Amino acid sequence: MNSDLVVVVGAGLMGQGIAQCAAQAGYRVLLWGLSAQELERALDNIAGSATKLHAKGRIPDTSAAVLARITPVLDLEQCAGGDICIETVVEDLGVKQGVFRTLERLALPSAILASNTSTIPIGKIAAATSCPQRCLGMHFTSPVPLMPVAEVIRSTATTDAAFERAVAFVRTLGKEVIHVHKDVAGFVFNRINLPGNVEAIRLVEAKVASVPDIDKAMRLGFGRPMGPFETADMVGLDTGFNALAALYAETGEEKFRPPELLRRKVAAGQLGRKSGCGWYVYDAAGSRTGVAEQPD
Ligand SMILES: NC(=O)c1ccc[n+]([C@@H]2O[C@H](COP(=O)([O-])OP(=O)(O)OC[C@H]3O[C@@H](n4cnc5c(N)ncnc54)[C@H](O)[C@@H]3O)[C@@H](O)[C@H]2O)c1
Repeated sequence: MNSDLVVVVGAGLMGQGIAQCAAQAGYRVLLWGLSAQELERALDNIAGSATKLHAKGRIPDTSAAVLARITPVLDLEQCAGGDICIETVVEDLGVKQGVFRTLERLALPSAILASNTSTIPIGKIAAATSCPQRCLGMHFTSPVPLMPVAEVIRSTATTDAAFERAVAFVRTLGKEVIHVHKDVAGFVFNRINLPGNVEAIRLVEAKVASVPDIDKAMRLGFGRPMGPFETADMVGLDTGFNALAALYAETGEEKFRPPELLRRKVAAGQLGRKSGCGWYVYDAAGSRTGVAEQPD
């Protein structure tokens, strides 16, 4: 049993996965969610994932044992005493800063405060606190229980001790660490990945190739397990859009400008698997049934 208390703020796709990995590694976890329904869905998803991993022999504990280490929490004020606090709420600077301010007040004075932001410089989030030396980025990829790597990002204020503690924590989750030494928007993963996603959407906009063919190109031509549109449907088109919007606002670089088609799809509620329609269409059981029509 790992003795540190892990606080995960945000019970969406990433919060579920991070809480699950921490619980699987033997940590006690407090998982904060915005609503009872969100927390219920999160615990259901964690149970389903842990059951599969246990059946395949990839984790020793049963899903009941994993769930027993996770306490769902609706009131952030109940998240006191955290040693390792990981914020993974919506990609919005103001919202993240608000969470960090609260965590600074509630966590142990020695705690590290981490953000799972995809794109926002850590220094900007940490500026809302009076302890930027303990703030850093801990950027996981989806699906968190299956992906074997995470970025750890330091700002100019992050101490070596905090950085090394975060690196050690991620390793206890069984993941490799990418050390990110400069606090650039988008860090490493998204600096490289997002321009490719933008280009894929622009190719669809220009009717150069279809969504399934572009996915096939990246799977078969480049050995990726999933194409960019399949991945986007899992990640959530709104999450992808917010990441691009934040990165474009930060850098002003054209390669990160959210394509108009993506903007229209998000406005039309085509958010990916979670809404039953994104780049593809899904049935109630989550199986893919076709390719989505693009909104006007
Ligand atoms: N989806 C991915 O593949 C992925 C990968 C790496 C990092 N991220 C980052 O992780 C973070 C969460 O992404 P996600 O995919 O879990 O998103 P999600 O939409 O599944 O979950 C977002 C969470 O934020 C909460 N939230 C929304 N508005 C809020 C508000 N005003 N105040 C407080 N909480 C609020 C929601 O209740 C939910 O718990 C984002 O910063 C995202 O950029 C996402």
